[in-house]
Amino acid sequence: MWPIPGRSVFFEITYALMNTNIKQKIIQSLKDQKEIFGDDLFEENLLKRKTTIVKEPKADYREEAPESFFDENWKSAKTLDELESMINTCTKCPLHQNRNKFVFGKGNPNADIMVVGEGPGAEEDKQGEPFVGRAGKLLTDILKAINFTREEVYIANVVKSRPPGNRTPNADEMDACLPYLKKQIALIKPKLILCLGLTAAQGVLKKRDSLTKMRGQIFEFEGAKVMVTYHPAALLRNPNWKRPAWEDVKKFRQLYDEMK
Ligand code: URA
Repeated sequence: MWPIPGRSVFFEITYALMNTNIKQKIIQSLKDQKEIFGDDLFEENLLKRKTTIVKEPKADYREEAPESFFDENWKSAKTLDELESMINTCTKCPLHQNRNKFVFGKGNPNADIMVVGEGPGAEEDKQGEPFVGRAGKLLTDILKAINFTREEVYIANVVKSRPPGNRTPNADEMDACLPYLKKQIALIKPKLILCLGLTAAQGVLKKRDSLTKMRGQIFEFEGAKVMVTYHPAALLRNPNWKRPAWEDVKKFRQLYDEMK
């Protein structure tokens, strides 16, 4: 930026920094908008959606990769440990290139509840466990608020390797990893799955709907009922979403209690 005559260098620097700050805020705010509304425009009354039941959909925006692509030994794994040892060196997508640790998932192998996030962040990549960073701490608190412990649920992600710079995993990466999540679900047999955030919800349900549209609905996936709420990292950025998230997880708990 060229200095404007009559303004001090101090002013110019402050102005430029302020501009950067504002730009970052605008970018973050747009990202947040996308997180909940996807490609839909904001509409106030979408936030007050009632619970409806939707049958498991067919893929509506991507073709599944050919079955032969996934036809490998790990499909015969009988336990989660066996499965993990068979897939933790996976190179099916480029995410393996920057991976420190494969983040398979953690929790009760017989859990009724599965929680599914997007993909490992820096801390998860370092430790090899899902949701161990700041967002993970909030997830623990959210679970506690609805009387679940981390130990009694199973926590996993759509992609098992960290996307560089914590970017959103792309559709090919999610498609490459989704069969592993399906196998985990087949072994654990949860009654209920909670998807955290738009990416996890779209990746699991193969839908392009916005988070706002999917929240409050009950979907079906691999024999389990699925509900969708905000990603804890989004809640950290935007505490205003904590209240609707609380409504979501209360419904989730209620559904679980009704199913027992
Ligand atoms: N965010 C996710 O989606 N998954 C993790 O494991 C950590 C942060």
